[in-house]
Amino acid sequence: MANETVTLTNNADGECYELALRHGSLGPSAIDISSLYHDVGLLTFDPGFMATASCTSAITYIDGDRGLLLYRGYPIEQLAAKASFLEVAYLLLYGDLPNETALADFERVITTHTMMNENLKNFLNGFHYDAHPMAILCGVVGSLSAFYHDSIDINDPRHREISAHRLIAKLPTIAAAAYKHSVGEPIMYPDNSLRYAANFLYMMFATPCIAYKPHLLAEKALNLLLILHADHEQNASTSTVRLAGSSGANPFACIAAGIASLWGPAHGGANEAVLDMLMEIGDVVNVPKFVDKAKDKDDPFRLMGFGHRVYKNYDPRARITREMCHQLLDEIPDTRDSPLFELALRLEEIALSDEYFIERRLYPNVDFYSGIIYSALGIPCTMFTAMFAVARTVGWITHWMEMMSDPNNRIGRPRQIYQGPVARDYLPISKR
Ligand code: SDX
Repeated sequence: MANETVTLTNNADGECYELALRHGSLGPSAIDISSLYHDVGLLTFDPGFMATASCTSAITYIDGDRGLLLYRGYPIEQLAAKASFLEVAYLLLYGDLPNETALADFERVITTHTMMNENLKNFLNGFHYDAHPMAILCGVVGSLSAFYHDSIDINDPRHREISAHRLIAKLPTIAAAAYKHSVGEPIMYPDNSLRYAANFLYMMFATPCIAYKPHLLAEKALNLLLILHADHEQNASTSTVRLAGSSGANPFACIAAGIASLWGPAHGGANEAVLDMLMEIGDVVNVPKFVDKAKDKDDPFRLMGFGHRVYKNYDPRARITREMCHQLLDEIPDTRDSPLFELALRLEEIALSDEYFIERRLYPNVDFYSGIIYSALGIPCTMFTAMFAVARTVGWITHWMEMMSDPNNRIGRPRQIYQGPVARDYLPISKR
C-alpha cells in the first residue's frame, strides 16, 4: 500500500506532525486533516474547495484529466447509449443496475407518485405569470416539506426511500406545471401510461383540447439529457444539499436548497446563459469579438458553457450532447440548419484553437450544447435549468441518502480566517 502518512513541518517552531493519508478506489488520495486543529491548533485554508474532499462517496467518479465520468462504476457513454433514465436513477440510488423485476417495480413506484397534491396548484397559481420556473421550483419543492408527515423520520431508511421516490416522481410534474403557469395554460395531470421522459414532454406540451403524443426522437433526446445531468460528485448544488441535510433538515427543504444553488449562471444556470450568449453573438462574424471579451480580465463576460472546476479535458457529456444535436437537427424537420448549433460549433472551434483556452484547459462543458437540444424540443430557454434540476434531483437525493445512512455523519460547519476588527469596547453615541 502507498505510504500511509505525510509529515507536516511547522518551520516557525520546527515541530513535525504525521498526518494520515486516505485512499479511494479511484482518484487522488487525501491528507486526513480532521484532527489537525485539535492536535496542532492550525486550520487549513481552501476557498472554493479547490483541493478539499468534503466526504467519502461511492456514487459518482470523475477523472477531469481523462474526461471520464462513472455512475457507480459504469461509464456515462454506455449508460447514455443503452439505459433508460429510471434505470440510471435506480443504479444511482441502489448501487447496481436493476434486473427486469426490480426495474418494473421501481417504474411502478415512481409512476404511482407522479401526481402532486391538488393544494399545490393554489400555491403555484399564486406566482406572478412571469415568475422564473426556477423560482417556482424552489418554492414548490420546498413546500412539499409541509405535506408528507407520513414519512418524516429521516432516521428511518424506509422513510428516506419514500421521500426519494416522491421527489424523483414529482419533479417533472412540478417543472411542467411551472412551465404551464408561465404560458397561461392549464396544468396537465401525468399520463401514467407513458414512460418517464415521454410523460414529462406530455405534461409540458399537451393541452386538454388536443391529443398529444411525444415524438420518439424527442423522448430519446430527453432521456439522454436526463441521464447526463443526473449526478456529478460534490458539485455546488450537491454540496449544498449535503450541508443542509447534515443538520437533519427535511429532505424536501434540502432539495429546494440544491435547486437554489443550481440556478446560478456559474452552475446549472449556464445552459440558459449559453443560449442568451449565442443569441447575443448572433452571427459567426461576431465570434472573435466575444472570444476577446471572454479573455479580457477587465470584462466580466465569460464564455458560458466553457470551463469546469474538475474537467481539464473535454466534458464527456458535452461530446455526447454534441452528437445528439447532429442527430436531432438532421432528423427533426425545419431545425436542420439551426443557426445556433452552427454558431456553437464555430465558437467551439475558434475557442479551442485559442492559446488562452488551451493554456487554461477550458473545454465545452455539459451546458454548452444541452440548450440547443432543449430548444429543438420546443422547450423555452427559461426552462433549461429546471430541466437540469429534474435530472439532478436523483443525484441530490442519492447523496442525501448516502450521507444520512453514514453512522459517522455530523453537521457540516467550516471554520474561517477572521480578518475583522480585534476586540473593542462599546462607546456611547455621544462619544462616537
Ligand atoms: C456545471 O461542478 C460541477 O460538476 C458542475 C457541473 C455539474 O454537472 O454539476 O458540471 C455543471 O456547473 C458546469 C459549469 C457551467 N458553468 C459555466 O459554463 C459558466 C462558465 N464557466 C466558468 O464560470 C468556470 O469555468 C467555472 C465556474 C465552470 C469553473 O470555475 P473555476 O474552476 O473556479 O475556474 P476559474 O474561475 O478559477 O478559472 C480559471 C481561469 C481563470 O483565468 P485566470 O484567472 O487563470 O487568468 O480560467 C478562466 C478564468 O478567468 N475561465 C474562463 C472561463 N472559465 C474559466 N475564461 C473565460 N470563459 C470561461 N468560461
